[in-house]
This record gives sequence, C-alpha cells and structure tokens, in this order.
Amino acid sequence: MQKDNILFHIFRFDPDNDKKPYLQEFKIPVTRKDQTVLEGLFYIQQRLDNSLAFRSSCRAAICGSCAMHINGKYRLACNTLISKLTSDIITIRPLAHMAIHKDLFVDMGPFWKNYEYIKPYLMPNKPLPATREQIQNPEERSRIDILIDCILCACCHSSCPVTASHEKYLGPMALLNMDRFVSDTRDGAREERLTMVNNEHGVWRCHTVFNCQEVCPKDLNPSGSIAHLKMKIVKNKI
Ligand code: F3S
Repeated sequence: MQKDNILFHIFRFDPDNDKKPYLQEFKIPVTRKDQTVLEGLFYIQQRLDNSLAFRSSCRAAICGSCAMHINGKYRLACNTLISKLTSDIITIRPLAHMAIHKDLFVDMGPFWKNYEYIKPYLMPNKPLPATREQIQNPEERSRIDILIDCILCACCHSSCPVTASHEKYLGPMALLNMDRFVSDTRDGAREERLTMVNNEHGVWRCHTVFNCQEVCPKDLNPSGSIAHLKMKIVKNKI
C-alpha cells in the first residue's frame, strides 16, 4: 500500500555557519507511485526550506548531476523511486571524498581534474579525410558501445575506498573513460594513453574492490575497464 507521507533525513552543513554537519528531518507527502527522491528534494526546497542546496539538471538520468548517497547506496536521485525504497525513512548524504560546498552540493573540482588528465577527446595520428568523418565498421563501433554511456555522475568515484585513501588515484571514472579512448579505432594515441595510466596513481592503484561496478547507475563496469587497460599495458610492453 502506498504511504501518504515519508520522512527524509537530509545531511545539512554550511561550512560558513555550522560547526559540524547534522541530519535534518522533513516530512514529504507521497502523491504518486512514480515520485522520485529528486522530486522530494524539490518539494523541500520550494515549500519547506529554500536554503537546501543540491545539484540536479536533466531529471532523466542523462546529465549525472544528482548523484548522492541515498539509503546506503550511491544513486541518481532523479531515477530513484520513493516507492522502491523499503525503509520508512530516506536518508540522504552527499557524494563522498569531495569537499562540501553546502549540504548535498560538493566540490567536484578534483574529479574533473582526473577527467581532464586522461585527455577525453580523440587524438588522431593521421590527417582527417576531406569529409572530416572517420568511419567505423559495426564491429569497431561495438568496442566502445557501452563505454560511451558514462554520464560522469561520480557514483563510482565516491564508492571506491581507494579514492578515499589515495588522493592522487585517477579513480574508476577516469580509467573507464581512458579505456573508452584506448578502445576507439579512430584514436591514434594508444601508447601515450597507456603510459599515462601505467603508474602508481593509475591502473596499478586499483585494489579490485568492485564497488564501482556495483553502484554504476548505467550498469557499466569500471573494474573490467581497469583490467582491460592492465592487459593492454602488459601485452604492448608499455
Ligand atoms: Fe575502486 Fe573499483 Fe578498483 S571500487 S579499487 S576502482 S575495482
């Protein structure tokens, strides 16, 4: 039976005014079976407390902006249905291993730095054809089919214990995206890319914990990508 109300316990912290973080309780009316956690957050912000800070954009699990820790797991608030969460209380905390700007809104600067490091664009090693189009056959395209689905939400980054303990670790998101470019037949910098992750901050820092794979809202497999990069490094004697 659908509940009429649900309690949200939300992590609050304003570094300018609060001495320490705390959980604040809000009661949210549940009016539909397909009501999402993100809609609950907007209800709070628009009707109960407009000082609540969180990030969101597309509301369709495409932009990756609304990732947060919801009832024990990193998820997207926009595609997490209140009705699917079994507990009577929904506890929401921000992404981990990043400084808190305010409440659920974190500083993703270091995360983007890791993405920037892997040079997330094609680097062809021959001039482009006159049409500027680099054609791939279906088999070549299938090698990157799944990898290009990464929405850079940072669920994997926050769930990985190694990113917590080793600040310079590139982390599952950057390594999965590196695999995406290494696997792309249009890219001409495979050796350079493999060299970039063949070090103690790259693939060899991964402890194969698999949390990244478990939490990915797009069902991607960063740990598989890391294993793939390791194999390529060994095979190519990088
Ligand atoms: Fe972290 Fe995933 Fe490796 S959780 S340790 S990047 S397998």
